[in-house]
Amino acid sequence: MLACNATGAGRLGTTPDAMLGRMLEDYIPDDLRNRRHDVLASVVATATPATFRDARGIHIFDHSLYPITDETGRVHRVAWLAEDVAHEVALERQLRQAQKMEAVGTLAGGIAHDFNNILGVIMSNIEMLRGTGLTGRAATRADRILRAALRAREVVRQLLAFGRPADEPYVTLDLCRTVADALHLVKPSIPASVTLRTLLPATPLPVHGDATQIHQVLLNLCTNAVHAMPDGGLLDVSLETLDLGGDDVLRGYPELSPGRYVCLSVADSGLGMTAHQLERMFEPFFTTKPQGTGSGLGLSMVHGIIRKHGGTVRAHSQPGQGARFDVLLPLADMPDTGTTPADIAPATVPDMPKSPPLHVLVVDDEHDFRQSVAEMLHALGHRSTGTDSADDALRLLAAGRYDVALLDVRMPGLSGPELARTIRERGFALPLVVCTGNECDITPEELAEMGLTLIGKPFTGDELSKHLHIALKKA
Ligand SMILES: Nc1ncnc2c1ncn2[C@@H]1O[C@H](COP(=O)(O)OP(=O)(O)OP(=O)(O)O)[C@@H](O)[C@H]1O
Ligand SMILES: [Mg+2]
Repeated sequence: MLACNATGAGRLGTTPDAMLGRMLEDYIPDDLRNRRHDVLASVVATATPATFRDARGIHIFDHSLYPITDETGRVHRVAWLAEDVAHEVALERQLRQAQKMEAVGTLAGGIAHDFNNILGVIMSNIEMLRGTGLTGRAATRADRILRAALRAREVVRQLLAFGRPADEPYVTLDLCRTVADALHLVKPSIPASVTLRTLLPATPLPVHGDATQIHQVLLNLCTNAVHAMPDGGLLDVSLETLDLGGDDVLRGYPELSPGRYVCLSVADSGLGMTAHQLERMFEPFFTTKPQGTGSGLGLSMVHGIIRKHGGTVRAHSQPGQGARFDVLLPLADMPDTGTTPADIAPATVPDMPKSPPLHVLVVDDEHDFRQSVAEMLHALGHRSTGTDSADDALRLLAAGRYDVALLDVRMPGLSGPELARTIRERGFALPLVVCTGNECDITPEELAEMGLTLIGKPFTGDELSKHLHIALKKA
């Protein structure tokens, strides 16, 4: 070796001075020696530049070798540049992951619309059947079908939350519910030998964030915990609030500002970690798992997501003593409008008075769904008129008197929100309920401005009745 910069020498565990005049082989780690040597030999033999990539630990090196020839054309020197591209590779992977999630989200959104319509028809018809006075086995079976449909609705909702593209604008969400949803998704992958125990408070814990990303955090932490318990054990997931004063911050959490936080803890009774692992686990590509099983990106993703949310992560562990990860997220103020799509589901309205008979305009392009809603309304003592087009709906509104209109969010021609806007522009003030098959793109501002009520599709007769009541109260 004729010269080497300090960084290069440092990576090889030595100094530029100490390297001078020695053989490169003396410094190359055994596992990389053959490959590097072969490439060097071929550059010397052929006098052509070469590039290749190899990796060691958390480092990934892009090597470029340039032959330098003397006047006879013989290679008498080689300039060797090695660049650590681990960070770029990590970013690339994260980008690919984000793109994949986005594609899954789009796909799930498309399917969910159809799926929710189908479920709506099943649910409303089962409700009608139950209403006909089924008894005995028939009644039990009808109940079972309804429960299964409700469960299917839950699954669609969770899938949607999971597949939504990252970098959605942050919303105020209830961390209790987000964690409960995420655990639903995690549960099937937990082996029977691991017992999951959860301690989630009943009161909402508002946090400003992205539900999908928080799902990813929990999924990663739980997966790691399960991996650390090959012979089974306990997995504890809990949520609690935490007040951090100026002193706590100075001593323990310099990266945070004082204030109220929610602490999400994921603890396992598994193998635990050594001090070395604890120190490096958040680094991208740090893994102790066999080649091909772990990429070492899980915790770095957790770390990135939580920092982006203004929080932090701490891990506590000792070999053989299990591990506990504490995720701290800033507690947000309670949202004043309960209008984010995630909040549509079972709204409880205390002391609901029986509503007087209403005339409801139902606008939905799905015939069976319209029919089912009409029957539901009928069972609730209301009257309905249905149509499958926005134009027709506007015509009907102009010609008759309706107490409330139920609009599907996604229709050919005008969408639900567009139709709502047109209805308002034409001066109709009646309460409007928009049925969202999946996360819809109405902003909370638009909802408030047009006085819309959202109802998640599919819904039960009970839920429909409650939402009609909410809409009437708003008007
Ligand atoms: N609960 C845990 N108990 C013991 N060790 C853990 C635990 N969580 C993480 N580790 C250690 O931290 C390392 C890094 O975790 P990380 O999630 O970043 O990557 P990974 O699980 O190895 O791979 P990936 O998550 O990308 O599939 C793990 O390989 C393991 O050594
Ligand atoms: Mg992992």
